[in-house]
Parts: sequence; structure tokens; C-alpha cells
Amino acid sequence: MSLFRTKDISAMLAAKPDQSLQKVLGPVDLVLLGIGAIIGTGIFVLTGTGALTAGPGLTFSFIIAALACGFAALCYAEFASTIPVSGSIYTYSYATLGEIVAWMIGWDLMLEYGLASSAVSIGWSGYFQSLAAGFGLHLPIEITAAPGSLRGVTTFINLPALLIMLLITWVLSYGMRESARLNNIMVAIKISVVVLFITVGVWHVKPMNWQPFMPFGISGVFNAAAVVFFAFIGFDAVTSAAEEVRNPARDLPIGIIGSLLVCTVLYVTVAAIMTGIVPFPDFAGIDHPISLALQYAGQNWIAGFIDLGAILGMTTVILVMTYGQTRIIFAMSRDGLMPPILSKIHPKHSTPFAATWIVGTVFAAIAAFVPLDILAELINIGTLAAFSLVAIAVLVLRKTHPDLPRAFRCPGTPVVPLLSAGLCIFLMAHLQSKTWIAFLSWLGAGLAIYFIYARRNAVLHKIT
Ligand code: ALA
Repeated sequence: MSLFRTKDISAMLAAKPDQSLQKVLGPVDLVLLGIGAIIGTGIFVLTGTGALTAGPGLTFSFIIAALACGFAALCYAEFASTIPVSGSIYTYSYATLGEIVAWMIGWDLMLEYGLASSAVSIGWSGYFQSLAAGFGLHLPIEITAAPGSLRGVTTFINLPALLIMLLITWVLSYGMRESARLNNIMVAIKISVVVLFITVGVWHVKPMNWQPFMPFGISGVFNAAAVVFFAFIGFDAVTSAAEEVRNPARDLPIGIIGSLLVCTVLYVTVAAIMTGIVPFPDFAGIDHPISLALQYAGQNWIAGFIDLGAILGMTTVILVMTYGQTRIIFAMSRDGLMPPILSKIHPKHSTPFAATWIVGTVFAAIAAFVPLDILAELINIGTLAAFSLVAIAVLVLRKTHPDLPRAFRCPGTPVVPLLSAGLCIFLMAHLQSKTWIAFLSWLGAGLAIYFIYARRNAVLHKIT
């Protein structure tokens, strides 16, 4: 069946596009890379929404979301160490599950990487405005949020979100390589800000605010887990560095699991402290819950620091996510599934220039006109779907290519991959029905484009 034609793994490995990359990264770099892509809008913004859904039980929600990501991370690590070529799970599934599945995953990944850049730009905008307000600068309310995102207020456009997304597109299209050093500095600032919040906030916790702990029961906790899952997205970015790791068998799993562990500890602590300072109903309509908690505690100047750290931290997430999106579209275009212009490299800047600007403009427009909560759920459902497929693909690859050298093997197969897929699907079931409708419509559109365009233009179509 040509729908399920696969790319030849040995040919892919032989033709590694990034052969010149040096193997310089060690385990600490990878942990920092992971944290760089993980900590962003999820913790700085969506914890407010999560607290409204779960109450103080939000701490449990973070643990559940971390478990779902942890299992998926083990599956990712196996793939990354077996097929270390660009394109992430789009590439892995082209080699295992067949073309139509790979296409659908690539299409689905736009919900993760592309929309995440829009969503994080919106989070960035909220903190930027809060910081500017601290200096007495207030933007006209009409240009501070997408239409319909503030109840009872007329808004037209989220201008700061649009501008930051375009700025980052510009930087990426001109070939700025995100140096490990810059990333490490940004990550250090991010972690310091979170630790600052914890060490200052802990003294202002009123245990009374934790009663009742789960005001909306266990289902509230699960619903919030499906939302704050967003806060962990990005650890898969570690896998994209597979070709640059000195000792991938040992270091990739350390990088993936290590960054997840650090973030889980930070997130759970932050959730406990913020719901201990602010009675959870007060988070309604708040897009900067962490600094709000410190304002409640009367620590206004520290709240200002938090705003600044959050802004810098979210900038790196937008950068990494937009970069990831262009890489995936690039890989799909190189395989003929998308128009060739998207894999054209700019002669001077050595970047996929057209792909970067198309991605940047589309997702800047989305950041400007769509409210954050709608985006976050869509991103989560798209990512959860991708994670469950990675887990299944691990099992398929074990069957179809049992002898392929695997630098890292997911432990406990088939139980761990099955648990991973099961938990992801379980969380998907806790997302709202309108999210499901949007998700299925997106997949439907993808399927149509596959049959109209991608299937016929695939490079594999020409050689099979
Ligand atoms: N995990 C990333 C964030 O929370 C996407 O911003």
C-alpha cells in the first residue's frame, strides 16, 4: 500500500544532512537546553487557569502531566538515539509507520511547535504589559489582547504579541544561531526567577488557602493536568540535538529526563506556593499569576524582577519553538510533501528564509487575534496525539527493525510505551469538546491536502 510507504532507515542514516555538526554537548548542556525550551508561558501564565480548574490540587495536576511526559520522554530518547536525523517524530514515523502517518504527524506538529510560538508570544505580551505598567506605561486597552479575550472589554489585536513574534522571525531568518552560551544565560535567569519566587513566596503562604485542597474533585485535577501539560512541552527539543551529543546513549536520556525532573520539582513547588498565597478564585482573568502572587504578598519590587525574568525566559521558548517548526516544515518539503520553496536555503543567510517568514507571519497573526486559552488546549491535544504516536512507533520499530543499533532503549517495553500512549489519550479525553472539534477539523484538512497535493508530489512517489 503506497499510503504506508516508508523511508529506508539505513539510507537516511547514511545521508545524514548535518554531518559537519560537532559532537560537543554533554549531559549538563542538554539538561539546560531542555529547561530552556520548557519553562515559559505554562508556568508563568497558565498556572492561573490551572488553579481555577483544580484549586490547590493543581500541584497534583503538575505531577500527572509530568508522568505523561516522562513516559513519552523515554520513547523519544530511544528514537533520538536510533535515528538521529532532523525532523523529529515526523522523520521517525516516516521510517516506521508510513508516509500518511508521517504526514499527519508533521501536520499535527504544527499545532505543537507553530501554535506554541503564538501562545508563548501571548504570554510574553501579558508580562510585558505588566512590566511596562510598573514604569507607568499603559498601552491603550484595545491593542493589548485578541478580540474576545477580556470579558466585557472591547479589544482588537494583541500588538505586543504580534511584534515579538515578528521580531523573532526576523532574527531567525537572518541566521542567528542560538549559541549554547546565550541559552545558558537565559536559562540561568529563568531558573533564578522561579527560585526567587519560591524563596520569597514561601514565607507568605497561608495554609488556610489550601482548604479545600481539591474543590472540584479529582476530575478538576485531571482537567487542569490536561491544561498545564503545556508547561512541559519542549523537552522533545533535546532530541533535536541528538547529532551533537558526545555520548548519546548516556546523555540524551539524562538530558530529557533530567530537564523534566528539574522542571517538575520547580513547577510543583510553585503551584503549592501560589495557591497558598492567593485564594484560587482570585486568579480569574489574570495573565501574570506568578507576579500577582508576590503583589498579594506585598513584594512589588520582586514582582517586577519576576516579570523581567519571565519575559526573557519566554523569548527563548518562542525562538526554539519557531525554529523547531521551520525545521519540520523544511524536512517535509525536502521529502516533497510540501512545496519546494519551503526547503529553499537562502544563499546569504543559510536559513530556510521563505519557510521562516511564512511560519513567522502566520503564527504572528494567530498570536495577535486568537485568545490564549483556546490556543493552549489545541496545542496540548496536538502534542498529546504526537506523543502517543511516538510510543506506538517505538513498538513498531522494535518489531520491524529488531536489529537496528539502539544507543538507548526505552525500559520496560511494551508496558512503558503503552502506559505513555494510554496516559496521553486519557489526558486528551479531558480536553473540552470544542478543542476536539477544532483538532479533528485540522486533521481533516490535513488529510485532504495529503491526497490533493502531498501524496503525488512525494519524493518517494517518484521513485516507487
Ligand atoms: N513549555 C513551554 C511553555 O510553557 C511551551 O512556554
